[in-house]
Amino acid sequence: MRVGFIGCGGIARAHAERLVKIGDVEFAAFCDIVVERAKAFAQRYGGKAYDDYREMIEKEDLDACFICIPPFSHTDQEILCAERGIHLFVEKPVALTLEKACEILRAVERAGIITQVGYVLRFIDSIRRAREMVYERGGRIALFDAWRYGGIPGGPEHWWRRKELSGGQLVEQSTHQVDLARWFVNDDVELVFASFETNLLNDLPNFDVESASVVNMRFKSKAIAVVTSTCAAQPAGRTSGFRVISRNVEVISINNRECRIIEGEKVTTLQASVDPYLEEDKHFIECVKSGKETEVPYIEGVKTLEVTLAAVMSAERGEAIRLPLMEY
Ligand SMILES: NC(=O)c1ccc[n+]([C@@H]2O[C@H](COP(=O)([O-])OP(=O)(O)OC[C@H]3O[C@@H](n4cnc5c(N)ncnc54)[C@H](O)[C@@H]3O)[C@@H](O)[C@H]2O)c1
Repeated sequence: MRVGFIGCGGIARAHAERLVKIGDVEFAAFCDIVVERAKAFAQRYGGKAYDDYREMIEKEDLDACFICIPPFSHTDQEILCAERGIHLFVEKPVALTLEKACEILRAVERAGIITQVGYVLRFIDSIRRAREMVYERGGRIALFDAWRYGGIPGGPEHWWRRKELSGGQLVEQSTHQVDLARWFVNDDVELVFASFETNLLNDLPNFDVESASVVNMRFKSKAIAVVTSTCAAQPAGRTSGFRVISRNVEVISINNRECRIIEGEKVTTLQASVDPYLEEDKHFIECVKSGKETEVPYIEGVKTLEVTLAAVMSAERGEAIRLPLMEY
């Protein structure tokens, strides 16, 4: 399978390293607007280097492409790939606006290509087993409560610090927790209410994203979820996880690796034993080979983006936002 990359930064490296371990993958081409980065990847993994994705898509006979660019950079990369029948692995968040995400969704659905969005937490074995146990004997879910106490990636020049480039911590990072809530509860969100704190870090240079946020979601089933986030946690205090309350089973996930399953007085501990990036990449490659839809097709990225954008809107307006924001 001939694979190309658009964007040769941090997460592209993570995927390339995993693809090396998966048989049947040929690195055909790498593209980055900073061509030295594409060249460095090509030197390490093989294939040609490009600074223009249009040229790469046109010249290379790719079977699949990994799109690993920052949120603000999504323009027509996915659409051009779709028109050529190139299957897509796209990193989260899939875009910065719902309009762009829906335009891409229509293109990939029209083309009938295989798509997968990089919601890697869905591939952690302890979390997958915990979810199954809730479905097998938990009964209805009432509450999904997730948190992400993190820091600020990169230095003062990094795109992450600028809301118009990254979307902010919720849209860019805690999108993982919102996605986990949607996947675990297995339902669509109908109402979002959020509050953002934007003063704490506003003395930092080139920085205008929220320092903390709390997002409340209500699902169609009337289950509720909360995602609490901050990028102002002290380095030694950084943590992430979630708790689930269902009728008969409670789940506590610590740092998304260990899951405690609580049933009455009984506590069962599950430890993650896989590399979730390898698992998600294997899943994508297998689905491309067999022509089967992936577990996280592009529409899942659209739905999660929609919830995070509704939360931003809610925080700005100080009111609850009803979903869907638009038809797709
Ligand atoms: N799933 C995860 O766990 C995870 C982890 C990290 C990052 N990500 C996501 O991956 C994406 C990229 O993040 P990153 O940390 O790798 O960023 P990065 O800044 O390290 O790398 C992005 C690269 O894309 C290049 N680029 C930008 N626009 C381009 C264009 N139009 N054509 C070609 N190249 C272009 C940049 O020059 C840069 O080299 C982000 O959306 C981020 O949210 C996901």
